[in-house]
Amino acid sequence: MADLKDRIEGLRKAFEAEALKVGDAKSLEELRTAFLGRKKGHVTLLFEDLKTVPAEDKREAGRQVNAFKTFVQDGLLALEGKVRSDGRPARAMDLTLPGRKKYVGAPHPLVLFQQEIENIFLGMGFAIEEGPEIETDYYNFEALNFPPHHPARDSWDTLYIKDDLLLRTHTSPVQIRVMEKKKPPIRIIIPGRVFRRETPDPTHLPMFMQVEGLVVDEGATFAHLKGTLEYFIRALFGEKIKVRFRPSFFPFTEPSAEVDIECIVCDGKDPSCRVCGGTGWKEILGSGMVNPQVLKNVNIDPEKYSGWAFGLGIDRTAMFAYGITEMRHFYENDLRFLRQFGAK
Ligand code: DAH
Repeated sequence: MADLKDRIEGLRKAFEAEALKVGDAKSLEELRTAFLGRKKGHVTLLFEDLKTVPAEDKREAGRQVNAFKTFVQDGLLALEGKVRSDGRPARAMDLTLPGRKKYVGAPHPLVLFQQEIENIFLGMGFAIEEGPEIETDYYNFEALNFPPHHPARDSWDTLYIKDDLLLRTHTSPVQIRVMEKKKPPIRIIIPGRVFRRETPDPTHLPMFMQVEGLVVDEGATFAHLKGTLEYFIRALFGEKIKVRFRPSFFPFTEPSAEVDIECIVCDGKDPSCRVCGGTGWKEILGSGMVNPQVLKNVNIDPEKYSGWAFGLGIDRTAMFAYGITEMRHFYENDLRFLRQFGAK
């Protein structure tokens, strides 16, 4: 072992001395061959000799020979720079360059936004439910108090699979499925994908996301609806956001209201604002007191129980929250877009 150490030390000195003399490509090549040559190079011979080292010393000896090999390789690399005509190292290694970043997956911006919404409602004691994306006419329309051929169906441009089977146009059918199975008190939200026959444009897509909310209990009132939704919107957009309830119509709620929030992009001051269209307000959800007929349809006694519900567009609310004017960005999977949200 001591022997080997001395030999390596001697070779190291020899290499350093020879390296000083290298002035051109030819002498560099000679030095390389002398040390790394495949048959008689010093380093090669050291590796040969390793075979005769007793087993108990092999590990340490191997380490030393390998360290010497690296020393020689690094030395040759440094010399390459010296002998090149333009003075630049042949294989430049700029140690000041930042390393290459590895991108790992990250939740999609809509998933992050949905989780934010869910957390606010979970904090208020709501539970999360889900339902099927393929629905029957009964759940998507009829049980929600849309009589057959009622003109209100036209507001939901439906994609049919066959006569009685369709892609759900909203998350409201899950209200019915839950009320069929559970007795009040019910306090749930239902996030999910919905589908409509839409031509894609900056604010419409044939597939998007909603969160439905449903509360059924004795003595549930419109005041609870209003207070809860206002609390939710403030938790999402900050204390100062202005909220407005506007009378509206849905077959499954009576009375009904749509909820607008003040445009946070232009503060209601830009008549050509691309986000609010210059109105200063942005509609984000529909809501109302569950129509007693809907409660009857699921055998809940409307004399004893009342309910309120809402449906919020996740995509459009996320667009608004992030100041995005093009809904298609969410689904095109352009990494330049996605990496701005959580993906590092
Ligand atoms: N389902 C409605 C839509 O897609 C939104 C909605 C309005 C849901 C009122 C509700 C509600 O639960 O009470 O436009």
